[in-house]
Amino acid sequence: MTPPPESFPLGSDGASRIPSRGLGTFQPDPKVYPPGSVKQSVLTALRAGYRHIDTSLRYGDGQGEREVGEAIRESGVPREDIFVVSKLENVFHAPEDVAVNLDMDLDYLGLDYVPYAYKKTEQGYGTQRREDGRVIDVASKYGKTPAQVLLCYLLRRGISVIPKSNNPDRIVENFDCLFELADGDFDRIDAIAGENGELGVRNLESRGYLGFDNYNEEVEEP
Ligand SMILES: NC(=O)c1ccc[n+]([C@@H]2O[C@H](COP(=O)([O-])OP(=O)(O)OC[C@H]3O[C@@H](n4cnc5c(N)ncnc54)[C@H](OP(=O)(O)O)[C@@H]3O)[C@@H](O)[C@H]2O)c1
Repeated sequence: MTPPPESFPLGSDGASRIPSRGLGTFQPDPKVYPPGSVKQSVLTALRAGYRHIDTSLRYGDGQGEREVGEAIRESGVPREDIFVVSKLENVFHAPEDVAVNLDMDLDYLGLDYVPYAYKKTEQGYGTQRREDGRVIDVASKYGKTPAQVLLCYLLRRGISVIPKSNNPDRIVENFDCLFELADGDFDRIDAIAGENGELGVRNLESRGYLGFDNYNEEVEEP
């Protein structure tokens, strides 16, 4: 048994790799984190060793990408060492619009390129904020936090993780998640999501701010 890897292979030939741990940058709570927090968080993350940043045109209507780009340039970390992920917005899905979205991304980021992919999964969306005694038990056994245990569990499943945090201590904490999780403990965490992931829940509830369920594929809205 070994700790999860630093990176996972991408694509069928495995020629390129994605760093297993990244920083999510979506939706910092403005009551807690003032404008500029994304830039500071990306700087904190790059200094802590992160080399994978997840962003999107939609995060702050370009402001998120702007701050990500500023932080990358200010960090001094070579661009080619950083894996920057952006997304194709729903309103740019027509083939002729894809390049438009990409050009906007690059303009906001101030970068020359990003890997460009948004893979839809059958599982839907990342967890609801809740404490589970099983996670807390496993965490105390390893002297880790529940967040570190869940991140390590996902990495062991071969899933690249991008926890969002604007808190410098938690950014560093989240990066420290490559440790050996014993099979029994892996199974205990695995059971929480259910055999087919049916007990998992996503936390981005779009109805609250869009006014409709963005993920309901049965109904075409708005
Ligand atoms: N969820 C989605 O639907 C979605 C969609 C598209 C893309 N993404 C990407 O995925 C990233 C992550 O999304 P998410 O929904 O998982 O994030 P999230 O729930 O929006 O944010 C993570 C929350 O956990 C807190 N946190 C972070 N590290 C922690 C720790 N070690 N212990 C306790 N609390 C901690 C953060 O607070 P602090 O900031 O105060 O630490 C924040 O409130 C996004 O930022 C984005 O890049 C997500």
